[in-house]
Amino acid sequence: MLETLIEIGRQARHSIEEAGDIETLEKVRVTVLGRKGHLTEILRGLAGLPIEQRKSTGEQANVLREELERMIADKTATLKRKSIGEKLAADRIDTTLPGFPFSRGRFHPLRQTLEEISSIFVSLGFSVAEGPELETDWYNFEALNIPPDHPARDNQDTFYLAGDKRLLRTHTSPVQVHVMEKQNPPLKVIVPGRVFRNEATDATHSAIFHQVEGLAVDERITFSYLKGILTLFVHRFFGANVDLRFRPSHFQFTEPSAEVDIQCTICKGAGCRICKGTGWLEMLGCGMVHPNVFKAVNYDPEKYTGFAFGIGVERFAMFKYGVDDIRLFYENNLKFLEQF
Ligand code: DAH
Repeated sequence: MLETLIEIGRQARHSIEEAGDIETLEKVRVTVLGRKGHLTEILRGLAGLPIEQRKSTGEQANVLREELERMIADKTATLKRKSIGEKLAADRIDTTLPGFPFSRGRFHPLRQTLEEISSIFVSLGFSVAEGPELETDWYNFEALNIPPDHPARDNQDTFYLAGDKRLLRTHTSPVQVHVMEKQNPPLKVIVPGRVFRNEATDATHSAIFHQVEGLAVDERITFSYLKGILTLFVHRFFGANVDLRFRPSHFQFTEPSAEVDIQCTICKGAGCRICKGTGWLEMLGCGMVHPNVFKAVNYDPEKYTGFAFGIGVERFAMFKYGVDDIRLFYENNLKFLEQF
């Protein structure tokens, strides 16, 4: 019996040492220590032996079992380490090799302009809202104090949906109404978005273009606050040395209303073809929110005041980058786009 044990031990040690991978090692373990393994059989057969022999053989068999288990555990660890090492060696990347060139994408100049405008207002405490491009008459006109006979509703300007009361928004101002319906003052939001006008395309007109609407409402908002914010904005966007002026104007949803002109970025105010010799460029519309707009959203016009403004993104991009035809933004000519 002892000889058998010694033989099992000898063979097992040899097989464990020889095993080159985890699977082979596992087979060795099953052959010796598995449920029907050689050593297991011996341990099971102990009961049939005379007591003296049972004791000594039992001891030896257990010592052997422990030894083999330890050997298998060690070998398992070694084999695992080896296979990880092999994987790493096979997957190794030579970081000293030169890279291959790839072309970097970039944002469209209009997207860049939109982001720049937004980030200036966000830094001034405005949050960003969005609204639907498909609107109803109420949001696009009526709630903004534009009565049914107002020329802004002219079929020439507005795209109406066939067989439907809805329309494509002609400006981002309707989102003012959506925002005020959902939120109570104080609020300060900007609304970037696409707008649609039913008009012929030329160097300065596009049927689809972008606006950034602004709205601030609180208990003591004044025109000087509006002037301060827009002056800061223009100076950050075009540079601190660009002159601007507020010129009285008219919008149905603001009273008083103004337009902001900046010194012509092309001729620096001297007068040129672009600014039609005036030295000034019209840049945006703004004003104090009309009490009728507040009434439409159930805000108390006796308690609250607010200002609003609407920025034409294409115009800002054109004058910042010296682009003289709005259609260039929509033609997707890479030679044009790659300059930004
Ligand atoms: N919605 C106007 C437009 O599309 C622009 C505008 C003017 C927006 C004055 C305003 C504003 O919020 O106060 O031409």
